[in-house]
Amino acid sequence: LYIGVDLGTSAVKLLLMNSEGHIEKIASREYALSFPHPGWSEQNPYDWFDQSMDGLKELLSECDKSQVAGISFGGQMHGLVTLDENDKVIRPAILWNDGRTTAETEYLNNEIGKDKLSQYTANIAFAGFTAPKILWMQKNEPDLWAKVKKIMLPKDYLAYRLSGTFCTDYSDASGMLLLDVKNKCWSKEMMEICHVTEEQLPKLFESYEVVGNLRPEIAAELGVSTGVKVIAGAGDNAAAAVGTGTVGTGRCNLSLGTSGTIFISSDKFGVDENNALHSFDHADGGYHLMGCMLSAASCNKWWMDEILKTKDYAGEQKGITTLGENHVFYLPYLMGERSPHNNPDARAMFIGMSMDTTREDMTQAILEGVAFGLRDSLEVARSLGIKIERSKICGGGAKSPLWKKIIAAVMNLKLDIIESEEGPGYGGAILAAVGCKEFPDVETACNKLVKVVDTVEPDPELVEKYEARYQEFKKLYPTVKCLF
Ligand code: XUL
Repeated sequence: LYIGVDLGTSAVKLLLMNSEGHIEKIASREYALSFPHPGWSEQNPYDWFDQSMDGLKELLSECDKSQVAGISFGGQMHGLVTLDENDKVIRPAILWNDGRTTAETEYLNNEIGKDKLSQYTANIAFAGFTAPKILWMQKNEPDLWAKVKKIMLPKDYLAYRLSGTFCTDYSDASGMLLLDVKNKCWSKEMMEICHVTEEQLPKLFESYEVVGNLRPEIAAELGVSTGVKVIAGAGDNAAAAVGTGTVGTGRCNLSLGTSGTIFISSDKFGVDENNALHSFDHADGGYHLMGCMLSAASCNKWWMDEILKTKDYAGEQKGITTLGENHVFYLPYLMGERSPHNNPDARAMFIGMSMDTTREDMTQAILEGVAFGLRDSLEVARSLGIKIERSKICGGGAKSPLWKKIIAAVMNLKLDIIESEEGPGYGGAILAAVGCKEFPDVETACNKLVKVVDTVEPDPELVEKYEARYQEFKKLYPTVKCLF
């Protein structure tokens, strides 16, 4: 049995998979997300650990615990976790969707220079990346920074508590802006620019490599053997790509979670000269390009929870009948935007309402605005000559048939639906299985385990209507940008 842990932004989701790829059980635990200032986003790493342990106990409560062989992770990326000399968490983790680092991001991109950053790391700075957060902490919390002995990413904190190994993997490390992505090593230049030493950084592993065994006290608490292996795991997008079989070259996955991402796998290293897409290592040993929008399914969640105050997602979408003909636009920038605008100060808006605008029109505008935001990144990929005709799709938002229909039409893509909707968790379990030598490599494991059960075809009539709408949508951000 293999455990996959999806350490997300709203919850940790854990799953137990057998060697045939069948999911035997799922458990999840929520934790708080705090926004101490507008645009800031933080979480307490102790909550991640406590809730994961609690969830693991439920996950393992009915199985033959002697059969558990390995555990691995897909984790929310970029978050800055800092530990002192006693391994105490120094301050709450600053998350991937935190926008406080405008000044540090500008310093890196403009004073150090995008060309140099790109040469050292294959990427430019985005506010959510880890390096600008390190600079922010040095400037704004020098007393706290002085205590920092270890810097790590969210899932690496779990791996450290579970195994005692201070480790990360290449896919997640790519999002720190400290890794030389092409050559898979820490960048000496970036360490210097960010005033960090190699001792403060975790040891690098491939996502499918074993970093150690469960610590004896953890194994005892969970009632499993001390032989259970801890496998490095991946950033949640690379793990989701594994979980949907998006490995090797030229495959695509869309993730519709709190964030929205388009992930394109490749055996070869490549950079987007426009610097709109990230160039990162993949969990299968290769590389990928990725566009990330900061608010995707979270736009709809905000609209449902905070504004409409209902939990009936399906009911709310039932009344939507005018696909492709909405007169309302929605810009999905609730937490600023990463790809392609790189503007932490951007904000969401509705545009185009009239006296006859209905609640359904506005709900529809949200679903469409997120699809248009993803299309923005797809356009960048297409401009690089990358041909994509079909994609996998995963994440909470992908549970909505209507949203999938809109996305297929807006992006003109065939969307393959996977048997397991648990993208990062399933990918984590697959990485654990590869680490335990159940399979020789990630691609073989994916070919054997990941099953496509349905395909959503783009409706040609809607594709045409949405093409016209997208051309209008594209004009909106440049027009309102001066307001942010
Ligand atoms: C990717 C990113 C998000 C988080 C979500 O660059 O920031 O997708 O990984 O957990």
